[in-house]
Amino acid sequence: MKKHYSIAIDGPSGAGKSSLARRVASALGFIYVDTGAIYRTVGLACYRAGISCKNAEAVAQILPRLNIQMRFNAAGEQRMYLDEEDVSSRIRMPEISICASDVSTLPVVRSYLLDMQRRMARDNNVIMDGRDIGTVVLPDADLKIFMTASSAARAQRRLLELQAKGVRANFEDVFRDIEYRDQQDSTRASAPMRAAEDAVVLDTTNLNLEESYRLLCRTIKEKLGVQPVG
Ligand code: DC
Repeated sequence: MKKHYSIAIDGPSGAGKSSLARRVASALGFIYVDTGAIYRTVGLACYRAGISCKNAEAVAQILPRLNIQMRFNAAGEQRMYLDEEDVSSRIRMPEISICASDVSTLPVVRSYLLDMQRRMARDNNVIMDGRDIGTVVLPDADLKIFMTASSAARAQRRLLELQAKGVRANFEDVFRDIEYRDQQDSTRASAPMRAAEDAVVLDTTNLNLEESYRLLCRTIKEKLGVQPVG
């Protein structure tokens, strides 16, 4: 008998995955798991240790010593801890986005984090977002979505998010970071970002957040027969 439902949402940075997945999860009563936050926490640990996030040997050496935890607060929000410090805000800084993409190219990091992600889906109804959820982490997910948008639209959204947090940023830098990560995330040898063969592709380039949310809800209703409420 099937015990838990899982929805995989993959796609590049800024397509709207996390905001939409968080809202749909709350409407369905599922747990939202942001897997990028886990890679970001590894990236932050390497950054703080002063090692290159692309140096497979150095990263492999510190991995077993890392104390990384994913916890959910009373509001059901995912928080990331590194050595018991809540680093959930720190990992959102632009330099850590690049470190996260860099460490995520390393097979040793990917296999180290695989079990943590699968365990979440084994024990809960989840919506999990990332780059390889439908292809590698949860190949048997009940619904797979690949959410995308043009790089310019994604950079513009990311810029507004950073500015809203009070981070100084300009469009050119954000656009360059997005293109760097898209290129690296989709061409790496280990679990590259791509749509699973059975994924539904949703393009949010010309949709605002509310329209994207309605499109996502319609897709869930069509494919799973459940209507998110909220
Ligand atoms: O979703 P995000 O932007 O927070 O992810 C940060 C980086 O982590 C992203 O550039 C690639 C990597 N990542 C990954 O390789 N696999 C995942 N499932 C999630 C993120």
